[in-house]
Amino acid sequence: MKSLWIASVSLALFVSSCQCSDDQSGTAPFIPVEQAASEGALIADASQGALASALMKQINKDGFEGAVTFCHENALPLTDSLELIYNADIRRTSFRFRNAGNEPDSLDVVVLSEFERIHELDSVPQPKVVETTSGTLRYYSPIFVAPVCLNCHGMPGEDLTADLHALILEEYPQDEAVGFEVGDVRGSWVIEFAEAFNSNR
Ligand code: HEC
Repeated sequence: MKSLWIASVSLALFVSSCQCSDDQSGTAPFIPVEQAASEGALIADASQGALASALMKQINKDGFEGAVTFCHENALPLTDSLELIYNADIRRTSFRFRNAGNEPDSLDVVVLSEFERIHELDSVPQPKVVETTSGTLRYYSPIFVAPVCLNCHGMPGEDLTADLHALILEEYPQDEAVGFEVGDVRGSWVIEFAEAFNSNR
């Protein structure tokens, strides 16, 4: 965790010390796709690491029930705080979402469908960079279900106990994020580089 924050701070310093174009015409060159791919990978990894370590710490402290409450209160604020460090939009999305704030938009639907299609062909979907209609670049990186995830996203009454499922439904009455199996595509990280970040640097 500590090394993550050190890495984050040095990246933030790097970003803020760069030379940014003051071109307001909207035609400033966006960062190249390769750069969106490498920085997207770095940001998605750091975000995944931050969420996973916070989650594991909470599970060890308060068990799965405490961790659900913790996620409910902290998952979105945590990615919001990373956005400030990286100056990019950071979120997760999924066809079967738990928090309605993670509902996919139309471009997310296209990419999630592609990830699902590749997964159904028994291949492993790879991260990709896509340009939005407004010209910004988005880095998508598939999120897969690991054994520990089944405790909160598995089949109700089996890996996900009836008690925990009841608690989840209290916090998220519209929850759709159950019934997953190990290896399934759970969703995707979406890292979008804002216009200011895309300027010449
Ligand atoms: C302790 C229970 C718990 C565990 C274990 C858990 N999750 Fe979740 N997960 C949640 C909760 C609660 C949310 C909703 C968070 C919020 O309100 O933003 C969530 C949301 C998500 C989302 C965002 C999309 C959505 O459905 O809203 C993804 C993606 C996700 N989880 C993937 C995983 C993966 C992958 C694992 C295993 C590595 C995992 N989760 C383990 C409880 C859990």
